[in-house]
This record gives sequence, C-alpha cells and structure tokens, in this order.
Amino acid sequence: IMVQVNKPGAAVPKKMYGLFFEDINFAADGGLYPELVKNKSFEYDDHLIGWKAIKGAAGLESYLVSNDRPISNANSHFLRLSAKTAGSDAGFVNEGFRGMGVKEGAEYIFSIYARKGGGGVSGLTVTLEDGGRALAQGQIMGLTGEWKKYTVVMKPSATAAKARLKLTMDGAGAVDLDVVSLFPKDTWLKRENGLRPDIVQLLKDMKPGFLRFPGGCIVEGMTLDNRYQWKETIGDVASRQPMINRWNKEFKHRYTPDYYQSFGLGFFEYFQLSEDIGAEPLPILNVGMACQYNSAELAPVSSASKGPNAPALADEPTLDTFIQDALDLVEFANGPATSTWGAKRVAMGHPTPFNLKMIGIGNEQWGPQYLERYEPFARALKAKYPNIQLVSSAGPSPDGANFDLATKRMRELNAEYIDEHYYAKPEWFRQNVGRYDNYPRTGSKIFAGEYAAQSAGIASQENKNNWDCALSEAAFMTGLERNADVVAMASYAPMLAHVDAWQWTPNLIWFDNLNAYGTVNYYVQQLFSQNKGTTVLPVQLPGGAKNGTDNLFASAVADDAAGDLVVKLVNYSSAPRAVQVSLAGAKKLGKSGRALVMAADDLNTQNSLKEPRKLVPQEANFVVKGSTVSYTLAPNSLTVLRVPGR
Ligand code: AHR
Repeated sequence: IMVQVNKPGAAVPKKMYGLFFEDINFAADGGLYPELVKNKSFEYDDHLIGWKAIKGAAGLESYLVSNDRPISNANSHFLRLSAKTAGSDAGFVNEGFRGMGVKEGAEYIFSIYARKGGGGVSGLTVTLEDGGRALAQGQIMGLTGEWKKYTVVMKPSATAAKARLKLTMDGAGAVDLDVVSLFPKDTWLKRENGLRPDIVQLLKDMKPGFLRFPGGCIVEGMTLDNRYQWKETIGDVASRQPMINRWNKEFKHRYTPDYYQSFGLGFFEYFQLSEDIGAEPLPILNVGMACQYNSAELAPVSSASKGPNAPALADEPTLDTFIQDALDLVEFANGPATSTWGAKRVAMGHPTPFNLKMIGIGNEQWGPQYLERYEPFARALKAKYPNIQLVSSAGPSPDGANFDLATKRMRELNAEYIDEHYYAKPEWFRQNVGRYDNYPRTGSKIFAGEYAAQSAGIASQENKNNWDCALSEAAFMTGLERNADVVAMASYAPMLAHVDAWQWTPNLIWFDNLNAYGTVNYYVQQLFSQNKGTTVLPVQLPGGAKNGTDNLFASAVADDAAGDLVVKLVNYSSAPRAVQVSLAGAKKLGKSGRALVMAADDLNTQNSLKEPRKLVPQEANFVVKGSTVSYTLAPNSLTVLRVPGR
C-alpha cells in the first residue's frame, strides 16, 4: 500500500463528520430531554396520556380535564380531582416514558402548579415509587384558590429504571393540577431544563463537526399543520404547546400512540447543544411541503396561486410563511439584541450569537414541486443573508430519476451542499466505496446527510447494529475521506433510540431510562472523526487500485495539527492480512506509531446495554522502519495507524 505523503491533496473539511438528530425512537422526550413526567400539562390531544387514577382509591369521587380558568391560554387544560373522604389515597399516577429512571441519592426537582377547588383539601403528597415501594416522598402544603407553583426536592433511596410518580390529595374536596414536572438536577452543565449528561457526553466524544436538527421527516410533518415550527419551540418552557410526533404511529410492530413532542428541547436548546459539543449548528427547515410518504400536502408558492393543493383557508401558510420563518431563524441565531428575534435569544440567556452559518431547505424532498419551492426560498435567503450556506435535498434514492433531476438542477443553481441519503445493505456500502471518485470536483459539495448499513430491512427487529454493518460503513467512509474535496459533511442516521420505544433500526446510540451506549457503528464514526486529520493523501492499494481490491480498503490523511500521518485500513476478510504501508516521500518519521483497532471474528458482534464496550477501539504500538510500516491487519478489522512526522 503506498501513501503519497509528498502529493498532498484537498483539505479535510473541519466539519466533515457530524451528527444527525431527529426526534424518532423517543430521542427527545424520554431520551436526551430528561423531563420524567409525560404529558405534564395535560395538553396532548388525548389529555390523559401518561396519567391514570390510582387503582382502588375509594376516596376519589371524580376527575376531569378542565379548561375552566386555566393558567394561561397557551396552557389551557388541567386536571381537576375531587375526593369525598380524606386519607383514602385519592390521586393520580404518571407513568413517565416507559417508566422513570431515577438514581439513588440524586436530586430531582418536583414542581407543580396547583389550586384549591373547594372543600378541605390542605395539600398534596408526592411519592416516587417503584413496584409499590416508596423511593422518595414530599409534601405540598398551603394550597389557595389561586394558581401557584410549588416545588419539592426528591432524593430516591434506591435506583430504579421504571419508577412512577404518585400524587395524592391530603383532605377531601377538589384540587386543580397542572404543569407537573420531575426534572433531574444532574443535567449537562447542571443547567435548568438541561439535557441528559451521559448522552451528551457520548455526542461530545464523537468530536462532531456539525449537528443537524431537528430531522428527518419530522421537519416535514405528516401534514403541513404537523410540520416542525421552530418558533413554537422557544421561550418559556411551560408555554410550549406539545404536538403529536410524526413517528407516533409509523410502524405497527412498534406502535407508540403516546409519542408526542413537548418541545422542552427546542431550537434554543439545539443551538446551545451544538455549541456545548463544539459542532456547527445545521437546522433543516420545512420548504413548504409535508412528508411525501404521508399527506404530501403543499403550501402554495404564493397566496395568489391556486392549485389543487392550495389550502382551503385564507390564513393557512403560503411559501412566504416558510421563507419568513427561515429569515427570522437567522436573526434569532445571529441577530443583535436590538432585533426582534435576536432579542428573544438574548432573553433566553444567550447574548452572544450562535454563529449560524448554514441552513437546510427541505428534508429528503424531490421532484418539480420541491424545485419550485426551493428556488424562491434560496433566492430570498441569499438576498438577505448572502453568507448563509444552503443545504438542498436530493430526494430519497441515490440512484433514482428524481435524484438525478434534483442534483442536476441544484448544480445549475450552485447550491452549496446537496444532501444525499442512503440506507442500504452492508454490501452496497462496500461496493460503492468509489461512489464519489467520479463526481464533479467543482461546484456543489455533497452532504451525506443520512446513511447507515441495514443488516435486515429498515426498521425491523432483525435489523442490527452489528459489526458487519459498521465495518462496511468504515470501508465506505474511506471513500468519503479520499473524496473530501467533494464530500464536505457526513452523518450516520438516526442518532438515538430508546430500547423500549423505537420505530427505526439501526441507530447510532441506544439507551434505556438509566444508561446509554455507543454501538459498534458509533465507534467507527468516532474513529474517523477523531482521526480526520487536515489534508488528504493519495493512497494506492496493491495493483494500483484506489478501492477495495480483495476487500481491502484504505484512506490516508496528514494531521498537521498533531504532526502525524494517519492511515485508515479496513480488512473485510475472515483472514488476517499482512500489509506493508510505504509512506512515500516522508521526510522525517518517528520510530514507532500508535494503532487504534476495532476487530471481531464474528461479524454479528454488537454492543449492548449489558456489554456496552464489547467492541471498542483498542490501542497498540507498532514499529516504523524508515518510511515503511509492516503491519498485520486482524480479521474483520478497522485499523487506524498514526505515525508521528511528515
Ligand atoms: O432517519 C430516519 C428517516 O429516514 C428520516 O426521518 C428521513 O429523512 C429518512 O427517510
């Protein structure tokens, strides 16, 4: 294998390897966003999702969801409980998101808005319980006839993955309850309304170049009404209106009728997360089209246009609404405190700009209807913000006619990035390592915005995050890296999944209510990201080929910051393979190097909650002789060789 150290190629983009976030598989509520109470404000379409009257509580006379003098119009429903006898366990239970994960000795802030509705109710007892055993208890006292917020700190006496929260009335009479919250104190950077720290740590450890959010199909919505509207997700958390999640009913075998978006994790929090993990924010916005796999509803291109898909009501959005949302987003992220939307960011506690540099217009959309909307959208954004770079969609299939049409037009329009998605079998990834070898070297760059090898059909139970998939992705990624002048960004998708509430497989990181782990695919992504280097170096495989001869794949970079040469090698073979890597033209090299290796004989090897580190990179040293490294690649392995010098 020859690495041409003396013929450096393109610069590796700083943001090359990033993260794709979508609220699918309980990624936000029940995952990254650690609120433990589901449907805390009784505002889900079915107002009692997540809540149940305590079984056998003889004293509970009645309950109802009311909107009589609510806390605010934005939060118009609450729960009214009436008890006829005191001390009878009259009350309600919240089940959390497939239970509530709580840790022994950690602190959880319970808060509630409550109001006395008559009779002798003096207060409430709050119990965190696990299988009938009380883990922590608190008391709310002194209720009045007005809405007031009450707070209690709960400290569980034991760890439990599936606890629940019980609210019982002290005394007989009526009481009104709303905005019930149980929030861990231990959040990322100890922020109020902060994120789950173990998951954020995994994201940060990826050293991601960018964070794409909020999706995925969720951007589009099943209908236009159900689209993601960023303006509804900022400001006071208690006033954010929940909405049914686009993935609520997607797959029959994982029917999740309780899947909503509370928007506790909203656009401000996404920008803040990007900043925390050192990733450039990449928001993807709706282009005026609902998901083409669902209603395929369209916003008319102007209020004057009347097509078959024109909205019936005059106040329904036209394309202008979507364009204005995008312009306002730039102001929210980057504008000064004196601007309308910049002021909102400042009021939320972030006086400095978020430094937004790019925006995606539409997710996975295609055809003339997409182009018809994309063009005025892009023109308006560029007219006001010429420095904002635009990410455009190429449709779902990398090989279809729609894809070709969109790609051709995007190139004519000089779109900065074209977003390609591919979910395919592992062999597709190995066979397409050269996919970008013959792409045009100038003009639009590629954003491989969603990809993952599928072991057995998208989203099925049998579809696994196994080593076969991860190693095939690693082979493919050597092709991305060799073509870093064409491929500017890449992200595996989806990113997060709850083991008890998923709609899609495979995923980068899995979690339950207490723990999270990186899949073998995660560690492949991490190896590439942490060793991406700064400049591409040409590589010749045996026989002069660039690509996988005999299932051997390679790429190389110089890491000028660290002063190392970095060679990535994939041996997709059940036999070990001895290679000689000659670092042609290197002037001064160290005498030993550091290898980072992931290898498993069994291609079905997977990490899991029980064995989260079954297959992770292992470190070893190797000898460098002159400008040659002789190394034996393990069977089925990804090896990163770091050689000091240049
Ligand atoms: O990643 C899951 C889904 O796959 C995304 O929502 C969509 O863009 C793609 O079809």
